[in-house]
Amino acid sequence: MTEGPVVRPRRLRSTAALRRTMAETSLEARQLVLPVFVREGASEPVPISSMPGVVQHTRESLRAAAAEAASLGLGGIMLFGVPEHKDAVGSGAVAPGGILNLALADVRAEVGDELTVMADLCLDEFTDHGHCGVLDAEGRVDNDATLAVYAEMALAQAQAGAHVLGPSGMMDGQVGVIRAALDAAGRTDVAILAYSAKYASAFYGPFREAVDSSLQGDRRTYQQDPANAREGVREALLDVEQGADLVMVKPALAYLDVLRQVRDAVDVPVAAYNISGEYAMVEAAAAHGWIDREAAILETLLSIRRAGADVVLTYWAAEAARLLAR
Ligand code: PBG
Repeated sequence: MTEGPVVRPRRLRSTAALRRTMAETSLEARQLVLPVFVREGASEPVPISSMPGVVQHTRESLRAAAAEAASLGLGGIMLFGVPEHKDAVGSGAVAPGGILNLALADVRAEVGDELTVMADLCLDEFTDHGHCGVLDAEGRVDNDATLAVYAEMALAQAQAGAHVLGPSGMMDGQVGVIRAALDAAGRTDVAILAYSAKYASAFYGPFREAVDSSLQGDRRTYQQDPANAREGVREALLDVEQGADLVMVKPALAYLDVLRQVRDAVDVPVAAYNISGEYAMVEAAAAHGWIDREAAILETLLSIRRAGADVVLTYWAAEAARLLAR
């Protein structure tokens, strides 16, 4: 008899084929959603310096990106608009001729039902003060006045052709109001991806460049405190109650515990948003040669899946799909 442990977990790690068979979690193109930016009036794509490899699209280049996303078998594309003109109430968000609504129609015409078309539903890209809602006389974000604008925005996005609306402004009651507006207009077919547990995060930094945000101050009176996990679960449960078809945790990496808790608490699909700052950190370290870029990308996305995400929004969606197909 040889000495040594009887139980040897290493046995199942000994060949690539065994590891493939025993993997508990998978990463597939269909689980990945590509967030994209479209800039009003752009004649060519504009690079975003803090997000190497990501651009503000023209309407034309966005159509091409959507067609590529469809051919790669991605789970969807999430559109953000960058308007030329902003105002206090974010008029460009509700106008049928606003850049986001035009781009939604473009993309839908390009991909039909071959790719799920999602729209970020929030005012921050469209307001000159950069907040996610309209302000009251004291300059505070007015929850209920904002809900009325979200309802209008939802109808415009549904009309433009979005399959899924993603309210991301963290106003109380936003999912219920949007659901009611859609249903009253006969659009029971349009789904809601609620940004339920959305934290006031430093990791949104590069996104602010991506949408030319003019935000002064911060979003802490509506986005969540990073100290709170239970509250994230509560927000998700409230959104499910109000009719959310799926819920999201955002950011992903600093909130994997929240993601797991939300996954265990709800019975709808759960998404996670691998945000701009998470993208930028990996890209920056890789550019220095400090980490293996492709391995880091796949490990990041797999970890978010393992923590409980059914769907992952990531700026690497197209590239990851190509890496996975190799
Ligand atoms: C709000 C919104 C933000 C992001 C997605 N939707 C910014 C914010 O809330 O400050 C951030 C996405 C990212 O950082 O990649 N419309």
